[in-house]
Amino acid sequence: MDLHILDHRLRVTSISKTGLEQYTHPLIKLIFLRNRTRCKFFSLTETPENYTVVLDEEGFKELQPSEHLQVEGSTWLPLNVVSNGNASSSSQSVGVTKIAKSVIAPLAEQHVSVFMLSTYQTDFILVREKDLSVVVESLVEEFNIFREEGGESVPVHSQDACNGLQRNGREVPHATVHPVLIPENQFCVMSLDPDTLPAIATILIDVLFYSNSPREGASIDQDMECIKFFSFSMIDGYVSLVMDTEAQKHSSGELWRMVRIGGQPLGFDECGIVAQISQPLADSDISAYYISTFSFDHALVPEEDIVSVTEMLQAQRMSS
Ligand code: ARG
Repeated sequence: MDLHILDHRLRVTSISKTGLEQYTHPLIKLIFLRNRTRCKFFSLTETPENYTVVLDEEGFKELQPSEHLQVEGSTWLPLNVVSNGNASSSSQSVGVTKIAKSVIAPLAEQHVSVFMLSTYQTDFILVREKDLSVVVESLVEEFNIFREEGGESVPVHSQDACNGLQRNGREVPHATVHPVLIPENQFCVMSLDPDTLPAIATILIDVLFYSNSPREGASIDQDMECIKFFSFSMIDGYVSLVMDTEAQKHSSGELWRMVRIGGQPLGFDECGIVAQISQPLADSDISAYYISTFSFDHALVPEEDIVSVTEMLQAQRMSS
């Protein structure tokens, strides 16, 4: 299997709920006017806490600093696993489940903090640029590693410089077990042709920028068991959406339920959080998308598996 270190230098930011109006103009440009920016990696996720925006340096230039914009200090690089068609794994599962053992666990063992971004098309594992040599060293046994540079894939070999890596057994560090929340919402995960974005622009603008305004004819009584979650990404020309079935009533595809991980904001330095959730899912071969945001992590699992996932997480919390 191949692992690609993509040619994007990313920033992880968050826009406060009250600050959104101040950023509507650049966000519209980044989402709908692709030919006006050189941004190639853009992701926006709305949660009850804030809007998480992950984007490359070109896109980041569009966001003016303000009290409403929080920026994580590091540059993050996206990793992406490409299975070269050999059907060695018979698993039909999708998402982080496929990479839990080969990528997520080894990185957690080496205390590398990751930031996950699953999309309809693939899963991006973001790592800090400064951790890159440890990342390469941790994964070089399992993968052919390539670094993408200006459209070329250059093979990467582990450097002698990172011999200092301690191989402290194959144990994921005993991370804090974080509380989880399992809201009632059902989600769908979709892709669409970026050329059709103009056709759904009004819907997207409504969901993205006016979701908190009361809609005409909408029922007043808000279901307290549901949480706000919407994710849009456009990465190298591929669009991916995660939306509540309430916003996308006529969805026909698979339905997903959410597990939100974290009671207090998780920060960016702790490692092993993704590993802790994705490993048991992988053991049970349950598909999962995994979306980290500025404050919390979110796993999406198939609707039909939510009962067993809930039991599994409860057992994990009881034994810790
Ligand atoms: N760094 C965590 C890990 O390595 C995942 C990200 C948690 N933090 C966050 N702000 N979502 O497992």
